[in-house]
Amino acid sequence: MHLRLFINIDHVATIRQARRALEPDPVQAAALCEDAGADGITAHLREDRRHIQDLDVDRLKATLRTPFNLELACTDEMVAIAERLAPHHVTFVPERREEITTEGGLDVTREPERLEAAVRRLKAAGIATSFFIDPVPMMVERSHWMGADAVELHTGRYAERPDDDRSLRALHDAARQAAALGLAVHAGHGLTTANVGAVAAIPEIEELNIGHTIVSNAIYVGIAAAVRTMRAAMDAGRPT
Ligand code: PXP
Repeated sequence: MHLRLFINIDHVATIRQARRALEPDPVQAAALCEDAGADGITAHLREDRRHIQDLDVDRLKATLRTPFNLELACTDEMVAIAERLAPHHVTFVPERREEITTEGGLDVTREPERLEAAVRRLKAAGIATSFFIDPVPMMVERSHWMGADAVELHTGRYAERPDDDRSLRALHDAARQAAALGLAVHAGHGLTTANVGAVAAIPEIEELNIGHTIVSNAIYVGIAAAVRTMRAAMDAGRPT
């Protein structure tokens, strides 16, 4: 199975917002990622609009040639934006204003009615849904139970300690469990060319979302080369 690479372009907007200027433009960066072989583009419209802005998601929707994965907190405002925009899929993520980045997975046992209702609304609008969860059995099971089409497994713990077998085993087990339940399996957070191989090797994983390291490497080598280098690292780890 082809392992899809979705590039998260939030931090192109982070640099722009540092000056409240017009550049760098995340939409232009997204097009360059597509040209370089990205299979899709991911953006997180945060409630505090600290990087991606409403106009960015409108322009992404209008111009992307590949699927658009919109990351959102599960709030009425964000679900309404998703319904209007109709991205290819929505990934629900936890959001806390004081966090630097998305820290843990979504606790799908909290406010299950809210999540279930959001999934139903988006499904009615023809939008697939995914939950960004820690790789633990209960979260996988509940995601399935609530009607999500996919789970995105949080790879942050593995990325922090790639030599700790337990975090990699948890990803393997959660991926197998999710696939057996009929969920599509995505993964991401903290992945780099150095650690992506072992995650790419998990056969049930269909899609990776990678952001920070791509924008970082873009400063040194340009965004197209950063995407291509990541693609090569994924391919090197994937069993053929
Ligand atoms: N997946 C989700 C749900 C995220 O919130 C993020 C970070 O915005 C990523 C993937 C990408 O993580 P990173 O920027 O560390 O590659």
